[in-house]
Amino acid sequence: MCGIVGIALEMGEAAPILVEGLKRLEYRGYDSAGVAIVGERGVSVVKGVGTVDDLERRFGVSALSGGTGIGHTRWATHGGVTDVNAHPHTDCSDRVAVVHNGVIDNFAELRRALEGRGHVLRSDTDTEVIPHLVEEGLSSGLAPIQALARAVSMLEGSYAIAAVVSGRREIVVARRGSPLVLGIGEGGNMCASDVAAMLHFTNRYIPLEDGEVAEITPERVRIWTVGPRGEMTPVEREPREVDWTASMADKGPYDHFMLKEIYEQPSAIERTLSQAEVYSDRAVDLLLSTIDSGGRVVFAAAGTSYHASLVGKYLLARLAGIQAESYVASEFEDWAIPHLREGDLVFAISQSGETADVLIATRAARKLGARVLAMVNVPGSTLAREADEVLYMGAGPEVGVAATKTYTSQVAMLTHLTARLALRLGRGGNRAGEIADWLPEIPKIVEARLEEMDRLSKRYVGEVVSHHSVFFLGRGVNLATSLEGALKLKEISYIHAEGFPGGEYKHGPLALISRDTPAVAILPREERLRRLMVGNIMEVRARGAKVIVVKADGGEAPAEMEFPAAPEGLPEELTPIPFIVPLQLLAYRAAVALGRDPDKPRNLAKSVTVI
Ligand code: F6R
Repeated sequence: MCGIVGIALEMGEAAPILVEGLKRLEYRGYDSAGVAIVGERGVSVVKGVGTVDDLERRFGVSALSGGTGIGHTRWATHGGVTDVNAHPHTDCSDRVAVVHNGVIDNFAELRRALEGRGHVLRSDTDTEVIPHLVEEGLSSGLAPIQALARAVSMLEGSYAIAAVVSGRREIVVARRGSPLVLGIGEGGNMCASDVAAMLHFTNRYIPLEDGEVAEITPERVRIWTVGPRGEMTPVEREPREVDWTASMADKGPYDHFMLKEIYEQPSAIERTLSQAEVYSDRAVDLLLSTIDSGGRVVFAAAGTSYHASLVGKYLLARLAGIQAESYVASEFEDWAIPHLREGDLVFAISQSGETADVLIATRAARKLGARVLAMVNVPGSTLAREADEVLYMGAGPEVGVAATKTYTSQVAMLTHLTARLALRLGRGGNRAGEIADWLPEIPKIVEARLEEMDRLSKRYVGEVVSHHSVFFLGRGVNLATSLEGALKLKEISYIHAEGFPGGEYKHGPLALISRDTPAVAILPREERLRRLMVGNIMEVRARGAKVIVVKADGGEAPAEMEFPAAPEGLPEELTPIPFIVPLQLLAYRAAVALGRDPDKPRNLAKSVTVI
């Protein structure tokens, strides 16, 4: 995964801007970090195991002097987590420094060949071949951009690369398969893995496309496509603007980004609903033309976004009478592609728009003649650029690794879209109209109960952290809530958690239930489902487990603890949004109580750009 940032300034110091950018990229990986600054006495590299804060404490990075530099935050793929394997990597003479995100598949052959030509490589990484290849280009008289273009023409695999060279003011970059955007500023220019890492400097950006290289000087940015032998053809591309601000990506008064992002949900959902007004007509047209021509709607998404897709699938069937399918993106090629046809619509949901499994799924689908409707949060992301139609969620930058506000925004967007589609199709009767009427109330409903949900989650967290396993029971649309609640808890607290359909319990999982396995039950509003869930709660309690119930006011269930998360009368289809909020808070409070960092869970990164 890894995060990359670089800046070339006309005047002033690059290091503090790089450090700021790296902090915003830590969601991409945080096992090691490093920077390289081009100063008066060549390229200074500092790097090591740990977070960006650790790097700052160890080396006082911000004090390094020089106007051009690059930085990296690592999620290890090749080579263990050691100081030597941290980026940047340098060539034999320490004149070239390189940061890289991605995987170089042919690095072993390249390394053997380089060593055969006398190069000395010091790390176990795949990346280290790159500075040595650039070094060879420079030695043969090429300019840094030409040397990089020639180097990347020898690479197989995926990469976003940024390199600096001693005595030069420019950064040279390349991209294939890993994200990289160029930032156009006043008095300097930048590059980064995403726009959020540049907001403290500029909100104008140019996405770099696969197969391109660029030269970033303090004065301008130039882009070329690279041919098979490193030949370069210039490309013109206008900058775009993102309406995110730097403060949106700051922690503010909160202890963690995750808590801030949970509390931001009312405003994020409100923004999403106004975005939905702008974008949903075209998406609805695409859905209608798919259905009219006999095509199917097939969701592809990963993790939390997959859970949102389950809500979408449910709502499409329930409100619009459309039978959609939903697949985990990493299984899409095996389960969906074999029966996908021209005219089908792949509805890809991805917060980052960079998840490799999702991109692989949509690219394979397009080859078969399917169209792609994408819902993304990050502007300029790869999925957004490759899709036929895009729904921008507008949730604002999400920095915490655990998705919170982007999940509720995804669900809000899907609810808006399906209700509108049902109304256009004349299906769903009063239900679709009722849901469309209630939807603008959702931000207020969440806002009104946030503090109370947090107070209760602090009260109930003891029950969760004193056990090794927690089970989440859902039914109907809130099956997705149970899966998402369990994912939140396990990924940031490391307590084993699983979500189940309430009715599946007896078919196996009940064997695990004891007084040591508390359960969280999401109580449906519809009477038939409510009764079934009450039955499930009784079965669990009969085995000694305590139960926490998430419910709407007036919903009755026999449980030791309860989160009244929504008002009585809220249609069942709208409950997934308010019902997930207490479970996000419970997971957050559990992580904090156990001394885990909820923003940086072990082994994970927010944007999974490798398969
Ligand atoms: C969980 C989480 C991940 C992501 C998944 C997909 O809290 O954040 O499960 O949901 O990696 O990421 P996107 O939505 O960026 O494709």
